[in-house]
Amino acid sequence: MTTLKNDRLLRALLREPVDVTPVWMMRQAGRYLPEYRATREKAGGFMDLCRNPELACEVTIQPLDRYPLDAAILFSDILTVPDAMGLGLYFTEGEGPRFERPVQDEAAIDALGLPDMEEDLGYVMDAVRTIRRELNGRVPLIGFSGSPWTLATYMVEGGSAKNFSKVKGMMFDRPELMHRLLSKVAGAVTAYLNAQIDAGAQAVMIFDTWGGTLTPQHYQAFSLDYMQQILQGIKREADGHRIPVVLFTKGGGLWLEQMADTGCDALGIDWTLSLSDARRRVGDRVALQGNLDPCTLYASPERIREEVGQVLASFGNGNGHVFNLGHGIHPQIDPEHAGVFVEAVHELSRPYHGNH
Ligand code: CP3
Repeated sequence: MTTLKNDRLLRALLREPVDVTPVWMMRQAGRYLPEYRATREKAGGFMDLCRNPELACEVTIQPLDRYPLDAAILFSDILTVPDAMGLGLYFTEGEGPRFERPVQDEAAIDALGLPDMEEDLGYVMDAVRTIRRELNGRVPLIGFSGSPWTLATYMVEGGSAKNFSKVKGMMFDRPELMHRLLSKVAGAVTAYLNAQIDAGAQAVMIFDTWGGTLTPQHYQAFSLDYMQQILQGIKREADGHRIPVVLFTKGGGLWLEQMADTGCDALGIDWTLSLSDARRRVGDRVALQGNLDPCTLYASPERIREEVGQVLASFGNGNGHVFNLGHGIHPQIDPEHAGVFVEAVHELSRPYHGNH
């Protein structure tokens, strides 16, 4: 096993001291980078890129060659799991993801099987192994999955939800059926994250993009309980190292205490709350990852630096902060502005760490 040359991310996720605050960006490999668009073109399309381990590795590393980022994130998508469960994922230009066979009744739910991680999702594990080899210890590699609730929204709606009519209709009218679906998806996600960890993922993140659309009671029962089940089923150590787990519920600011109680190592925080409030509420139970408004990157370099300074000041002194955007970087962002952001985090965070 190669030793890590830069382990700031893992240290911060475990609330250990670092020299400067580590930083990465959700969707850091993506359409705002011309080199990403060129590689996607070469692959043929987005899913062809995900299914090609060499090219997925290439785009994973592209942002690291441009910016001094402290982590790589596996290039893939959360919808690979429902695809492997037989739903038939495809992307149409400008329309986002679609499924050929959405899951809308009892028969469809009962027919869902647990995908085989090497047979059906081997391309993801090959990408993880290839990226680890190419990174050669430069920075840690983050693996990820969608949360069961977030995956279920796409599976029931057949694509991106407009108003969650079908999935919430099922949740309210047939809660037992919804639970059957979520249990199956939670089983698949647990196996998927364990396979990524076996293949070499050094931290994992669960994206609960749509948990924030639920009432507090429904959030607990239909999203958080299943994420907790996953946390209990995944390996928390590999090669003698702890594998930190980050839980991110977009719009989940009201429920940080419950999220911190699941046993995760860190919480992803969107931009709708301040890190100082978040930190006061969860104490030293978990690290925090976030939370610059992604729209800040439309502003001038001077304003970007000021806003980075505000977020650092909001977290304050001490350990347990991983800097990130509050959600994914937009495709329209100027790559130079992303660079200003990353460099500002390192430069402005030094006074918050250690005895400098
Ligand atoms: O962060 C990274 O750099 C890793 C790669 C990553 C992608 N998707 C690549 C991607 C990750 C972690 C995801 C997760 C994902 N996928 C989520 C949860 C994260 C979040 O944003 O809350 C969701 C909801 C999806 C589903 C999905 N995939 C949608 C809705 C879309 C379409 C978005 C759009 O604007 O068209 C995708 C496609 C997708 N996934 C792209 C990328 C880079 C763009 C596709 C392209 O290149 O044409």
